[in-house]
Amino acid sequence: MALMGKRILLIVSGGIAAFKALELVRLLRKDGCAVSCVLTAGGAHFVTPLSLQALSEERVYTDLFSLTDESEMGHIQLSRSADLVVVAPASADLLAKMAAGIADDLASTLLLATDKPVLAAPAMNVRMWLHAATQANMATLAARGVHVVGPDEGAMACNEYGPGRLAEPPAILDAIKSLIGTASSASASASAPQLLAGRHALVTSGPTHEPIDPVRYIANRSSGRQGHAIAGALAALGARVTLVSGPVSIADPPGVSVRPVETAADMLSACEAALPADIAVFAAAVADWRVAKPAALKMKKTATGKPPALSLTENPDILASIAAAGPRRPKLVVGFAAETHELAAHAEEKRRRKNADWIVANDVSPATGIMGGADNEVHLITADGIEHWPRLSKQEVAARLAQRIAAAFA
Ligand SMILES: Cc1cc2nc3c(=O)[nH]c(=O)nc-3n(C[C@H](O)[C@H](O)[C@H](O)COP(=O)(O)O)c2cc1C
Repeated sequence: MALMGKRILLIVSGGIAAFKALELVRLLRKDGCAVSCVLTAGGAHFVTPLSLQALSEERVYTDLFSLTDESEMGHIQLSRSADLVVVAPASADLLAKMAAGIADDLASTLLLATDKPVLAAPAMNVRMWLHAATQANMATLAARGVHVVGPDEGAMACNEYGPGRLAEPPAILDAIKSLIGTASSASASASAPQLLAGRHALVTSGPTHEPIDPVRYIANRSSGRQGHAIAGALAALGARVTLVSGPVSIADPPGVSVRPVETAADMLSACEAALPADIAVFAAAVADWRVAKPAALKMKKTATGKPPALSLTENPDILASIAAAGPRRPKLVVGFAAETHELAAHAEEKRRRKNADWIVANDVSPATGIMGGADNEVHLITADGIEHWPRLSKQEVAARLAQRIAAAFA
């Protein structure tokens, strides 16, 4: 119930993914969060006010020029009464209005009038997303501090493939938690002891993408949720945090400095550039191998029908490199081990072999739903032994790990 007592203003605009906003409202309510919904005229073609009203248990706003709405709750008050404004799905049209400062309906007026943080979850056809106009609008919005989650890449309703799918509701929920977490931890942290003030923490997160040719790559299913949550939790305890992240579609945790990278080699360089650090937490799912010689041009099918042979070579070991003894070794190095069998034995062996102080080991067998999911069940392996933590949300695992790290520095 991380969102108990919080309020979201959810703006649902016109896109095929608007039905997923219903699931988002359900998840928010389950987490104890109040939700005021605003539906655009476009959005109302895809979901009904009644569905949003039934799930949010509150009235749904659609009209700027409604005397009734203005007397009950003026549009300025509506724009400011929430802890966070979330636009999901955010249509190309509404994003363009936001970037241009247009206020010609209730949603765009609220977005212009609000003084609260805004999180947008874009969803549209891949061509619309990649269009220079949309990309320029996104750059404008990012420069103004609008937070963005997604879009995901995949098959689209219009039978095309690429980036443009709405981020899944659990990923949007995570982004909301990390944003409201900061807003509330900013006030909470004023009273909470800043146990890691003056410490620099380096955190890695997400997958790496290893190119095959200019358009294809080898990746894995890591969402970055655990690493991002750890970065946010360390920042909430007052640490200066550098987050080196592979490509993810979740929002940056507030209050951390993010270095986006693609490959394992880039990630190692960014980690080395971030040193010195007191704490290093390696939560990224780094590819063990990369293609030895990525093709300079897009590889083509041949008349023989014979597929190309990919020759792989081993990637640098980031954990072992940074944890190796030396003057720049962080005082506390924490690695992650994703195992599918003999978890504790493999993780302890990894801790010793890589010279890590702690290993956070989790079982990523498909049946656990941990890879890409919202929860995690970990073992903390230190020189003193193995602790089994119960199944917790990734935010809770992060908060608990951050407290353990702070205790180690106390
Ligand atoms: C079937 C259909 C699906 C659509 N899907 C999307 C979409 O996924 N994303 C988007 O940006 N626009 C989509 N559009 C276009 C928007 O609905 C249109 O730009 C509308 O003006 C958006 O209004 P709003 O942003 O005020 O809600 C779709 C239109 C139709 C007819």
